[in-house]
Amino acid sequence: MGVIAIAVVANQLGGVTAVGTVMIARVLPGFIVGPLAGVFADRWDRKRLMVSADIARGLIIFSIPFVPTLLYLLIASVVLESLTLIWGPAKDASLPHFVGARRLAHANSLSLIAIYGAWPLASIAYSALSTFGSFIGGAVPVLEGLRSEPEAMALWVDSFSFLFSAAMIFSLSIRTSTTKTARLDLSQIRRDLLEGLTFVRDHRQVRPWMLGIAMTFTAAGAVFSLGVEFVQAVLNGGPRGFSFLIGFLATGMIIGLLSVGLLARLMQRDVLFSSSILLLGAGLIGLAGMSGLGAAIPIASALGFFGGVGYSTGYTLMQERTPDEFRGRTFSAAYTIIRIGILLGLGVFPLIAGLLGDHALDLPWGALDLPRTRTTLWAAGLVAIGGGIMSMRAIGERPPVLRRRGPGLFVVFEGGEGAGKTTQMEAFVDWLRARGDEVVTTREPGGTRIGRRIRDILLDPESAEMVPRGEALLYAADRAQHAEEFIKPALDEGRVVVSDRYLDSSLAYQGVGRDLGVQEILDISEWATQGLYPDIVFFLNVSPSTARVRHEREPDRIERERDEFHERIADGYMELSRQFPERIVVIDASRSPQEVHEEIRQAFEDRADQALAAPVDITSGRPKRRPPR
Ligand code: TYD
Repeated sequence: MGVIAIAVVANQLGGVTAVGTVMIARVLPGFIVGPLAGVFADRWDRKRLMVSADIARGLIIFSIPFVPTLLYLLIASVVLESLTLIWGPAKDASLPHFVGARRLAHANSLSLIAIYGAWPLASIAYSALSTFGSFIGGAVPVLEGLRSEPEAMALWVDSFSFLFSAAMIFSLSIRTSTTKTARLDLSQIRRDLLEGLTFVRDHRQVRPWMLGIAMTFTAAGAVFSLGVEFVQAVLNGGPRGFSFLIGFLATGMIIGLLSVGLLARLMQRDVLFSSSILLLGAGLIGLAGMSGLGAAIPIASALGFFGGVGYSTGYTLMQERTPDEFRGRTFSAAYTIIRIGILLGLGVFPLIAGLLGDHALDLPWGALDLPRTRTTLWAAGLVAIGGGIMSMRAIGERPPVLRRRGPGLFVVFEGGEGAGKTTQMEAFVDWLRARGDEVVTTREPGGTRIGRRIRDILLDPESAEMVPRGEALLYAADRAQHAEEFIKPALDEGRVVVSDRYLDSSLAYQGVGRDLGVQEILDISEWATQGLYPDIVFFLNVSPSTARVRHEREPDRIERERDEFHERIADGYMELSRQFPERIVVIDASRSPQEVHEEIRQAFEDRADQALAAPVDITSGRPKRRPPR
């Protein structure tokens, strides 16, 4: 509504050129403030950042009707857009603090629907409010000014929506692992910015995704610059055909956004992401090949569908795979890249169309029309397909880290509190021994003499003031000792080592539960164990509420955490099992102990041969080490 009202005000103040200038004023900050916004979002308290940005936006919008000059409108637009750019990454980076991994995809879809779905409502609300404004202006003498400027009404209501948002966000508790010094000097900004860029450039998953996003939005730019002409000249869709087609595209997109949660359960998210970009490119090529509006409609809807799926999945991937402290900068980099892509597409493709010109090919089976918009949109489709292929490179980057050492086999049992881990482990070990395997059992924390002392510190309810990073390092220290002193020698002797918890506990409890970032914890653990990964991990999955019923003894420090913490752990394990399917087997542990045991045996037999046959493979999908701060 604000965007419409500002365009109307600009038009009143200076006609079409003024509208154009104001629009440029909205785009420009994206290149300057955009990258900095991420630095702020990663360094400052995100909640305060969002609340302040909302209040400032509300006040500025409220003030616009009082200062009716073009200069003020331009300044206001630049500032408004800059504030929006700060607000966005802070919001996107905070989302994973509210929603568990399992619902993240859904939350992103809702967020995108809230943004784009509101557009059609905006024009209705705008005209209703400006009509109401001129009515009030006529009826209430103090508000007489509204008669000549009824759009002020829309601006004022809009400004209250920002204050409402500020109040809502203020009422939330948003954890930030990022509150560093409040004061920022220039060299620090520079360092943070460079660090963020290095992260995006070197991350083996984020980089291909960014390229994919850039190429997709470049193709989208082509659709907007050539779409109108294509629909009129090639599809014979008439003057309103384009908006008609966009309507179907938008509907497809909303359906896509709503289906993401379901699709994400069927396949891995990064596969979903790159294949939707790929299909989007293919769809664009198909669309450009059509010669009538009727045939184009289903393809446009499919395009929208893939766009929606890709958009939401991209958000979720970046939230999941980037540690909290880099998330703001990653998102602002994505925003900047999206802007550059669109502008590039808007500018370059019409030029290409001009160069290509209209042609027709005489083929044996008939004439093939090659109007310039068709060939250029084909090119744009190829660019999007290229983007899909680019982002596919991230898929190979999940770490299939199976570093085999001696002849033994390393099996780990994982799970939240009260999943029946101990019972199942005992039954499994008995079964292995009965088969004639040489088995040793151990646990974490506390698998060694030193480890037991570390364990005491960790689980003592008296250690209440322990900071998350300290906790993570103590678990890693225990693991280092455990791997070197106990696990490796046993494996070298050819034994089957069965451990109650190992590295994935740290990923779930410290990485997800304490929000330290899965990648960070993986790095620490990998360093601590010199890359000793388990061959098979059985994750015993029960809902935290079932687990609580099963729980009997006095809770230790970790067990005393709130329910929400344990739910995040459960979500964390599920996500880990998706991310590392080659290591983690999810076992439904809500059934009877006997059934669970059978399933574990079955899964072990299926996997053990594979694990033993697996080659020495130490490729890992993590970013290069970051430069020290
Ligand atoms: P323990 O009594 O062994 O737990 P359980 O009976 O649930 O297996 O205590 C281990 C606790 O430490 C448990 O709450 C999980 C937690 N933990 C971590 O937070 N990170 C880790 O890396 C490990 C190994 C355990």
